[in-house]
Amino acid sequence: MSTESQFRAITRESLGTQIVAARVVYFEETASTNTCALEQGRDGDVFVADRQTAGRGRQGRTWHSAPGLGLWFTVALKGEAEGLVFAAALAVRAALAGRCAPTIKWPNDVLVNAKKICGILVEQRNDAIAVGIGINVNHLRSDFPNELEHSAGSLFTETGEEWDRVALLRDVLTHLDRRVILLRNGQLESVRNEWARACDIVGKRIESEGHTGVVAAIDEAGAIVLDTANGSRRVISGHITVLDDTSPATHDSGD
Ligand code: BTN
Repeated sequence: MSTESQFRAITRESLGTQIVAARVVYFEETASTNTCALEQGRDGDVFVADRQTAGRGRQGRTWHSAPGLGLWFTVALKGEAEGLVFAAALAVRAALAGRCAPTIKWPNDVLVNAKKICGILVEQRNDAIAVGIGINVNHLRSDFPNELEHSAGSLFTETGEEWDRVALLRDVLTHLDRRVILLRNGQLESVRNEWARACDIVGKRIESEGHTGVVAAIDEAGAIVLDTANGSRRVISGHITVLDDTSPATHDSGD
């Protein structure tokens, strides 16, 4: 079966999910799967594209979506958006965990060997929510544009193995479904706590927009509470740099 047919064959029944994969819509090319979800999505629909011509990243950036190499997809949901960013990062981490050692960088990048292999963009328009996930899967180092050379990686560059994109999508959707169910059952706190622990940033010294301090906590909204020499500051978004970590230290945020 072609990859396209395998994507199209994903169903809730085949995954054993309750919400996610109500319908799986595949595009050889589309502008952005987030746009598809916001404009046409019903609860649980998944939009997946081999290639995006206008993939969106956080903070108005573009997302480099090379044809055939990554997993560019969006889960359309209705209802409450709170907690979905956490759920998505945890779902990707869980899907990868059997074959490598992924980490979540606050707020919601997934890294392997300190290279960003996954970005998440949750958008909301009226009652439509788009949980957009981009995973760099089988890229070679030379497939990334120069400006991403140092920060980005793919599952292939970091594990030395080719990954089956369809199997990976199935795994992420299954893990996401479990967490969406938890959120709908009022378990926001437990999802947020799992995510906050996974970020592993409390107690670390960071720099954020010229302010240096120690992370005292992650609050209910997922923001960093930073103890600085001039008092406490709340960091909701922007770049932070971890000063006492061994991994490369620039994090983005903006959701
Ligand atoms: C980030 O800046 O880290 C977030 C990147 C999110 C990219 C994904 S790819 C699928 C979906 N469609 C988009 O246009 N963006 C998201």
